[in-house]
Amino acid sequence: MPRDSVKIGLLGMGTVGGGVAALLARSDGLLRERTDIDFVIKRVLVRDPSRKRAVELPPSVFTTAAADVLDDPEIDVVVELIGGIEPARTYITAALQRGKYVVTANKDLMAQHGAELLELARRFNRNIFYEAAVGGGIPLLRPLKHCLVANRIKRIIGIINGTTNYILTRMSQDDMEFDAALAQAQALGFAEADPANDLDGLDAAYKLAILAGLAFHSRIDAGAIFVQGIRDVTRQDIHYARDLGYTVKLLALGERCGCDRVGDTLALRVHPTLVPLDHPLAAVHNEFNAVFLEGDAVGEVMLYGRGAGAAPTASAVLADLVDAARCLRSELENGVMESKFKPEALLPMSALSSRFYLRLLASDRPGVFGALATAFGDEQISLDMIIQKRSEAGVAEIVLVTHQVSEENFSRALKRVTALPAIQPRYSIFRVLS
Ligand code: HSE
Repeated sequence: MPRDSVKIGLLGMGTVGGGVAALLARSDGLLRERTDIDFVIKRVLVRDPSRKRAVELPPSVFTTAAADVLDDPEIDVVVELIGGIEPARTYITAALQRGKYVVTANKDLMAQHGAELLELARRFNRNIFYEAAVGGGIPLLRPLKHCLVANRIKRIIGIINGTTNYILTRMSQDDMEFDAALAQAQALGFAEADPANDLDGLDAAYKLAILAGLAFHSRIDAGAIFVQGIRDVTRQDIHYARDLGYTVKLLALGERCGCDRVGDTLALRVHPTLVPLDHPLAAVHNEFNAVFLEGDAVGEVMLYGRGAGAAPTASAVLADLVDAARCLRSELENGVMESKFKPEALLPMSALSSRFYLRLLASDRPGVFGALATAFGDEQISLDMIIQKRSEAGVAEIVLVTHQVSEENFSRALKRVTALPAIQPRYSIFRVLS
């Protein structure tokens, strides 16, 4: 028998939880018309029930006891919006064991424990929907799971952290220093009070683990992803990049590589990257996110939009709620497709090849360029572009971009170059998108 009402238990009512309640109130009629289902928030787990909320709900809805949500037999779907690993993991486990569907926006949890939780969901003939965990309101997981399922994905490249993209945009467009751009991002609410996970690339790595799992049909160990954050990107680097025809972006990259030594395998990495100005990702500014991918049948696809914020994220959560409700009404097959994914080892960075940008300061005296050229030449590194600025106080700034070279050879050459007495210890090194 079709059910005409789905009862929801919300875990957490911060920015996203408030956005979900607000959008549900605003689009209730719309969703009912489109699905023939009433979505009713039955209980909400909060820390402080007396706190004023943007959306009015009856006081009896709020509770400080998780059991009031998890043990309520009337609640069909638990929406976890607490974030972090614990107690979210315990609550989701309990919800699945009690036969409830789960919707979550928790990227840290799904990246690190998604496999075990989805397996549990399968065992209990339920499912976890997590569209909101990556890219806020941008449809990313459904396209990968459903629309592109007939493709072998060759490459996925994402700008999937709004905070860092906002900072790099301000540095590039307004010539700001990193610290000033970060302060502005915080003042506008784009960066959190503790932005470490964003700046150090971990947020993007968790999101990449989720995306790559679905794109490459693999179980990804998020901890094995190579990560470099944006703290070392300077205004000078952004200037030089522009002179050379690039902009700097924090990219999350996943590639299916054919590698002589280890066969066909996956390479996943997050690092600041020089992106050619004519690449579609170069036009993704401010807090916006985008994912660019290449499938063997579909070719190039780019998905673009707001990667965070209460309303865009709530848009994804509500779509997941509708899917969960349709499963309850048996309109959709309840398969946990991720159960088929097998763990797959990632290629170490040393097995990859990249183009590199290197900026260094050198004493302006005879033989320095010769020594640099020898170090690169000995390691089979071919240089594509070189800039040397007129020296100030006897110090010359040298910027160079290599052709595609082995990571191992580049790091050997870099060790030799930076050991030269004429080279100053501070230098910048970034990869360049081919
Ligand atoms: N902190 C994230 C970002 C938003 O800056 O993109 C939530 O995923």
